[in-house]
Amino acid sequence: MGGRFLALLALTLAAGAGAQEITLRAADNQPENYPTVVGLRAMADYLAENSDGRIQMEVFAGGQLGDERSTIEQAQLGVIDIVRTSTSPVGEFYTPMGVFSLPYLFRDEAHFVSVLEGDVGQELLEGLSEAGLVGLAYYDSGSRNFYTTQTPIRSVADLQGLRIRTQESQVVLDMMEALGADPVPLPFAEVYSALQTGVIDGAENNFPSYGPEGVRHFEVAPYYTLDAHARVPEVVMISSSTWAGLSPEDQALVREAAQASVPVQFEAWAELVERSRRAVEEAGSEIIEVDIAEFQAAVAPVLEQYSAVYGDLIRRIQDTE
Ligand code: GCU
Repeated sequence: MGGRFLALLALTLAAGAGAQEITLRAADNQPENYPTVVGLRAMADYLAENSDGRIQMEVFAGGQLGDERSTIEQAQLGVIDIVRTSTSPVGEFYTPMGVFSLPYLFRDEAHFVSVLEGDVGQELLEGLSEAGLVGLAYYDSGSRNFYTTQTPIRSVADLQGLRIRTQESQVVLDMMEALGADPVPLPFAEVYSALQTGVIDGAENNFPSYGPEGVRHFEVAPYYTLDAHARVPEVVMISSSTWAGLSPEDQALVREAAQASVPVQFEAWAELVERSRRAVEEAGSEIIEVDIAEFQAAVAPVLEQYSAVYGDLIRRIQDTE
């Protein structure tokens, strides 16, 4: 912290007060051109344009700076400035954020958006300060569905005993157990080879991650089941120590830039969902419709179990129009 402060101070003096040159390093574990990375690049462009090039944001895609847990930790330490991850692993650092990983919490996309933009979404962004992070914005990530290498999942019965990769999140682990699967928590980057080598029988994610513009799990897991068990948002955060080193004007600009990137990300997302679905169908994936009510009934106890952990958050989300 001290060294960083002195470095910033030196830059300030060199460039004249109020004209501090800043470089922010941002991490994302999705590949180049994936919507979250498109979002971060839009944020970088906004910052560069609106600071006359004084604030640069370098985006490291594809997990170059580490897996999600590690990039969150590095952001807490100020080693990485900005990080975009799923909210699931963030729930292990700031418990309330885990609420979004609960199964069948959101009714649909419109409900998801109004919760994120409403009081609950904003409160949880602010609450991240407890974990040494400043929450800037949410991005879309659609709905998550199961996919498997050999056993197509047509009902809850088919999931019994299957080894299914989960995000590194206790909530997701508990959901998987309620469905009768054998959860295997793994970092995202390890899932492809775990599917390929048979270490796991399946995983779960949205069409864009599964598809050719994501991490291409369709190549090794051709059965995709439309059970839509969760809608887990993505979140963009900045290290509290980086934040503390910014002037109030620059803090405002960073917030503004993150906000400006949200519609860019949502638009890129909406386009990619359909495109990915078509592409995996053309590549031979079987898309399986299921009785969602059966999945909902199986995971209902998880919502019950977590009502104690999340207090009134679950009800407030359900009550959001
Ligand atoms: C989504 C998200 C990734 C995350 C992944 C996961 O695809 O965009 O950032 O790592 O879920 O299942 O781990």
